[in-house]
Amino acid sequence: MQAKRKQTNSLLGNKLKINETEKILKLASEAAKNAYSPYSKFKVGACVLYQDGTAYTGCNVENASYGLTLCAERTAISSAITDGQKTKLIAVAIYSPNAKLCYPCGACRQWISEFSQNATVIVQDSDGNPKSFSIKELLPFSFEL
Ligand code: THU
Repeated sequence: MQAKRKQTNSLLGNKLKINETEKILKLASEAAKNAYSPYSKFKVGACVLYQDGTAYTGCNVENASYGLTLCAERTAISSAITDGQKTKLIAVAIYSPNAKLCYPCGACRQWISEFSQNATVIVQDSDGNPKSFSIKELLPFSFEL
């Protein structure tokens, strides 16, 4: 069986090139097609990109017990951790066919912060263009131990 991961060009630092940004948004949009969201009917896909150039995708996985739902971002990060990914988290792209500017929820912002204080979060605006933020902008003063 093949691991659900894709290789992209390797990256130096946190400055994403436009083609890399578009590539991971595209991977996020492909992942959204696999969303299991029979309750909300709201599909979300995410793609997380690491320093070594590996990208992992995830989608939301809902449950009849609604609170057990997994968000796409956390599914993607879990996949990277399960794969043994140890390099720096560089970027997280999030896409929903049901909404433009699909920002990560608060819990996912905290999850992203756990793995990088410098990650770039990318969403798609209403014109179809990528819009980038730093995780620090989206979640200043994240919880830390
Ligand atoms: N959802 C995500 O996958 N990521 C987020 O950051 C926000 C919400 C999902 C969870 C649920 O399946 C659906 O969107 C509606 O809340």
